[in-house]
Amino acid sequence: MPGIARWRDNLPTELCRNRELEIMLHLRILCRANNRSTALLVKPVGSGSLCILKNKYLLHKRRYNSSHENFSKDEHKKYIGCIGVVSILGFYYYYTSNKRRAFAREHKIESHSGQRSSPGEFDSRYKSYTLSEVAKHDNKNVGIWVTYKQGVYDITDFIEKHPGGAGKIIMAAGGSIEPFWMIFSNHNKRDIYDLLESMRIGNISKEEASTAVEGMEDPYANDPQRDLFYVRNHLPVPDVDPQTYELEIAIEEDTMKVLRLDDIKKYPKHTVSSTIMCAGNRRSEMAKVKAVKGLSWSVGAVGNATWSGAKLCDILNELNVKEEDYEHIQFEGLDLDPSSTPYGSSIPISKAIDPKGDVILAYEMNGKPLPRDHGFPIRVVVPGVVGARNVKWLGRIIISKHESQSQWQQGDYKGFSPSTDWDTVDFSKSPAIQELPVISAICTPQSGDQVVVQNGKIKVAGYAWSGGGQKIVRVDVTIDGGDTWHTAEFFGQDLSKPGRHWSWTLWQVEIPVKEGDKNVEIWAKAVDSMYNVQPESFKNIWNLRGVLNNAYHRVKIDLK
Ligand code: MTE
Repeated sequence: MPGIARWRDNLPTELCRNRELEIMLHLRILCRANNRSTALLVKPVGSGSLCILKNKYLLHKRRYNSSHENFSKDEHKKYIGCIGVVSILGFYYYYTSNKRRAFAREHKIESHSGQRSSPGEFDSRYKSYTLSEVAKHDNKNVGIWVTYKQGVYDITDFIEKHPGGAGKIIMAAGGSIEPFWMIFSNHNKRDIYDLLESMRIGNISKEEASTAVEGMEDPYANDPQRDLFYVRNHLPVPDVDPQTYELEIAIEEDTMKVLRLDDIKKYPKHTVSSTIMCAGNRRSEMAKVKAVKGLSWSVGAVGNATWSGAKLCDILNELNVKEEDYEHIQFEGLDLDPSSTPYGSSIPISKAIDPKGDVILAYEMNGKPLPRDHGFPIRVVVPGVVGARNVKWLGRIIISKHESQSQWQQGDYKGFSPSTDWDTVDFSKSPAIQELPVISAICTPQSGDQVVVQNGKIKVAGYAWSGGGQKIVRVDVTIDGGDTWHTAEFFGQDLSKPGRHWSWTLWQVEIPVKEGDKNVEIWAKAVDSMYNVQPESFKNIWNLRGVLNNAYHRVKIDLK
């Protein structure tokens, strides 16, 4: 039975080591059946046998009662014994199949025929190909195929729907996507594996599959140790030598200036205190409404620091750049994707050229040289604007009539209606996110905490922030679904005026709890200096990328 032998060979060794499952494997091989057909066989046969036995027994007994025939003790025992054996077998099957399902769930084994245990593994249901056959499928006319481990996939119809853009995924056409997924590591997720498997058409041999990443080292191996400030890198961290570092400044295609690190330090040093927040902060809460694509951030994709460096407007003025002649300032990082395209994004020129916009080319963070993770030696800090525009390891500034054409400006970090989904989305129809909306979050206590009630009160604390330099003017907190709101007091709010208030506001409040309450849900909402306030729920601000997550923050806690 080659099919069964192959199927068994493909099961993880851990699974085969499990004795109970070994027994079941033998049972399955004996039955020459897969999960579903075993169930189809055992269930009706089991319950049918029980029914027949029970009916025969009752019939026999009735006949005995009416005819006073001799229904011997042995005959009685025989029926009861048979019913017992069939019932025990039934219970055993039920028990082991539940255990098997739990084991499969735990080890992420697909349930169809037990043949596929993980993405890209050999799957005997499909035809085998060679790498050179796959390589011929690198365009839409013949179909676009890629490989992942031993799997072959036809991605022709998916190309245009790829959230990272058709231009990126096409780079893998006719070859393996593994080297790309080593860099774009956000693909290493169950739902993406499942999507890939839905396009499966074949297998390649183990030997050919192993050549895909031969000699490739982990591109993230040289990344620095993470610090307290959140880190969001789309690509591996570049190692930039400050001695040879150069920042190119261009107007459209023409290079106007090349600044070395020392040259940047010669401009007047400007210090701003500014929050940087990822557009995906609190995405995990939005995902509870409906699935979204992106890192499942809780409330921590935000940080606040003082940044020092040269003002971008000083450099633009030196080049005699006039606001009315251009529209955008584009930034490119020194971190490159597999096609050598740098991370990039842009901001409107009005923000960059305005001295009150406080955009700086920062070389210090909290009074020390920038850490590698946060852009050493130079990052642009764009206060009040989404994290994605605060480009790190800055390599090029382009003064332009056009927005950055990068994926992160054109095909990502944009908001959409809750009714727009991946089959209807048109990224060209929404503007790129710049200023972020007003937001707050409760940091203590956290969901599920057991909180001690002290003097009849609980302490709640968190942060609030608004984009565009708006100052937080109030944070309201409730534990009774909005019947009573308690205004938080601020600590750690800096003195900058509205319009240039770039830092977060830290807040705390003590809230009286009702005697006998065992648990409560805390809600927090912030109001900024434009009287913008957070929306009440995520339902009506849901968007497919899970950005702009600023609904009331809600935390359920137990009281002690
Ligand atoms: N700059 C470069 N060059 N490469 C990146 O991947 N990520 C951006 C931005 N600047 C990024 C970048 C995003 S999405 C965010 S949220 C912030 O950096 C995060 O900044 P941090 O890692 O210093 O907190």
